[in-house]
Amino acid sequence: MFELDQFVSDCRAALRQDRPQQAVQEVVRRAVSTPGAVLKALGEPRRAEMQTLHRSDDLTILNVIWAPWMNLLPHNHQMWAIIGLYTGREDNIFWRRVPGSNGLVEAAGARALREKDAEPLGRDIIHSVSNPIPKLTGALHVYGGDFFGVPRAANGTRKRCWSSNAVAKRWRADSKKPTRF
Ligand SMILES: [Fe+2]
Repeated sequence: MFELDQFVSDCRAALRQDRPQQAVQEVVRRAVSTPGAVLKALGEPRRAEMQTLHRSDDLTILNVIWAPWMNLLPHNHQMWAIIGLYTGREDNIFWRRVPGSNGLVEAAGARALREKDAEPLGRDIIHSVSNPIPKLTGALHVYGGDFFGVPRAANGTRKRCWSSNAVAKRWRADSKKPTRF
């Protein structure tokens, strides 16, 4: 059984725990362990979109639907996150900054996320994301802050990375591109 209101309040309660990211991860893991219930509550994905389910200063919850073969360039969020998949695939490549390179990044690892996975992203992580399959992917993205409120100029270490707002803008533009099914 998945209910959005309950999920939001469970995430908010988890924020008050000693280790909030791990506590939120458990809440998300529990939610995506019954993907059919999430689909029933949020609706079957029909097109690429980013729905804001909850937004506050300390917590953002998005329902992110990826188009087939959609790609998103390397970016950071400047806050921790939990990514929980309830349908499809989300392939992540993790990047690290090359010391002394004035903003270059190099690949540092990869992780293919599948239905029922609930993976943590650290505060400073840089990642790029793709949907490698010919169907829509649906994921709950939970961020430990205001995803859309991170000031673009606040972090001097963000060279070659994109702010959350820029990523959301780019994401929306990409999601409107025609896709092949
Ligand atoms: Fe991201």
